Amino acid sequence: MNASRPWWESAVIYQIYPRSFQDSNADGIGDLNGITQRLPYLVDLGIDAIWISPVFRSPMMDFGYDISDYTDIDPIFGTLSDFERLTGQAHARGIKVILDFVPNHSSDQHAWFIESRASRSNPKRDWYIWRDPAPGGGPPNNWLSEFGGSAWEFDAATGQYYYHAFLNSQPDLNWRNPDVVEAMREVLRFWLRKGVDGFRVDVIWHLVKDALFRDNPPNPDYHAGRPPNEALVPLYTTDLPEVHDVIATLRRTVDEFPDRLLIGEIYLPVERLVAYYGRDLGGVHLPFNFALLNVRWDARCIQSLIAEYEGALPQGGWPNWVLGNHDRPRIAGRVGPLQAAVAAMLLLTLRGTPTIYYGDELGMPQVEIPRDRVRDPFERNVPGIGVGRDGCRTPMQWDASDNAGFSTADPWLPLADAWWSNNAADLRGDSRSMLNLYRRLLRLRKETPALSVGSYRSYALDEDLLVYYRELDDTRLLVALNLTDRPQALILEDGTQGKIVLSTAAERDGERAPGTVTLAGHEGLIIALSGH
Ligand code: GLC
Repeated sequence: MNASRPWWESAVIYQIYPRSFQDSNADGIGDLNGITQRLPYLVDLGIDAIWISPVFRSPMMDFGYDISDYTDIDPIFGTLSDFERLTGQAHARGIKVILDFVPNHSSDQHAWFIESRASRSNPKRDWYIWRDPAPGGGPPNNWLSEFGGSAWEFDAATGQYYYHAFLNSQPDLNWRNPDVVEAMREVLRFWLRKGVDGFRVDVIWHLVKDALFRDNPPNPDYHAGRPPNEALVPLYTTDLPEVHDVIATLRRTVDEFPDRLLIGEIYLPVERLVAYYGRDLGGVHLPFNFALLNVRWDARCIQSLIAEYEGALPQGGWPNWVLGNHDRPRIAGRVGPLQAAVAAMLLLTLRGTPTIYYGDELGMPQVEIPRDRVRDPFERNVPGIGVGRDGCRTPMQWDASDNAGFSTADPWLPLADAWWSNNAADLRGDSRSMLNLYRRLLRLRKETPALSVGSYRSYALDEDLLVYYRELDDTRLLVALNLTDRPQALILEDGTQGKIVLSTAAERDGERAPGTVTLAGHEGLIIALSGH
């Protein structure tokens, strides 16, 4: 590959939710040694980098997104030396390691917060966001927590409220305080020195809040059945202009080390999302593009969102695509198990860096969680409207042995129903399986730079077929995705002929594609074109 390009432009990232990947010590919860054990699987799959959701010390109120020590590993996941061994072995196999950095809030058990709440005059008081009660009593303003209720928690001992955008056990740090910024830069350097290749930064668009603490305005589009925090527009709590200066500082810190990647978790409309590339591209390298997580699954909608995204990118800004993560329903649940194969081809043939969510390569379903097994604090706080995130976090289905080979103990979340037949070992042996589709796509993508870094150009607009070119030098590929369950005819441009290099239906690979090709329902094709 072109040596002048940074590694992540042609890389495929694989997200591991560590609690659910592989347990190595029989406690029903995945861990670092489990990941190390499964590196050969990841090599065989063909991914380039793993992003591991938080493994730092934590009371686990939000399963690791509430950190009580940013520079140590939680015993549930192992030790620092387990982490070093994982990184060493991943690197030896050519796999990069990306950590989850959670700077917006810590745990209320973090030493910084314990000091901060000790007294109003504590030197760390201003490391968090403390306010007096409103004049008549009650919370300082109307800000709401993402996980339900007021975002302000009263601390009786000191008579003030602290702000928490998520759980009350996740107090927000004060990023307007330069000491916080410096402490966090040291956290980044700690891991960078250990050789990590980058960070995914949690809720980066939340970092700075309004200095005047103004009330958020009501959301006129709010309706019952949506999470309660959506009743307000988060005008004064997220996406403030000042956040870009903070991000530029984080980026400069990462740039102190060669070849490191900074990704930002940002849920915003595309025109505001792309601002996170930063002035002169000095922001995050990849502001996560979540557009595919909510799109209506039809060809026109997807084609126009690709066009909108490509059109909004700043000069030199590198695109990226996400189909699932630990907060959103599984793709196979959203579009159905057959269409999930088409979605896989979409993810792995778009221009830019794709992120695969663990288990999607097996077609893992969205699992219905019985009420008594709900673990997600969001679902517990705001029950019954479908916000629960446990269903996309169930244990990886490795093989047909007890607990799907995930653990010898009872797993922390239930397994999906059909794990005894739908698991990595069985799927690996079936040439037509989802796992082998992912493997074939990843291999082709690696061998064919047109698919990762080539240009993107859309073909004719169509209700049912999503069709686009990927081109680089002499390579011209046409990707055709049938988003329906009915056969669809694709008519190639006059004078062009093609050959199917990869079909979601494996047996068509290598078939010639004269002027017209018929795609079966839920079929996707990558066609190499010749002729003008
Ligand atoms: C991010 C994480 C989510 C977590 C939240 C609070 O959105 O992806 O899992 O609950 O931040 O840290």
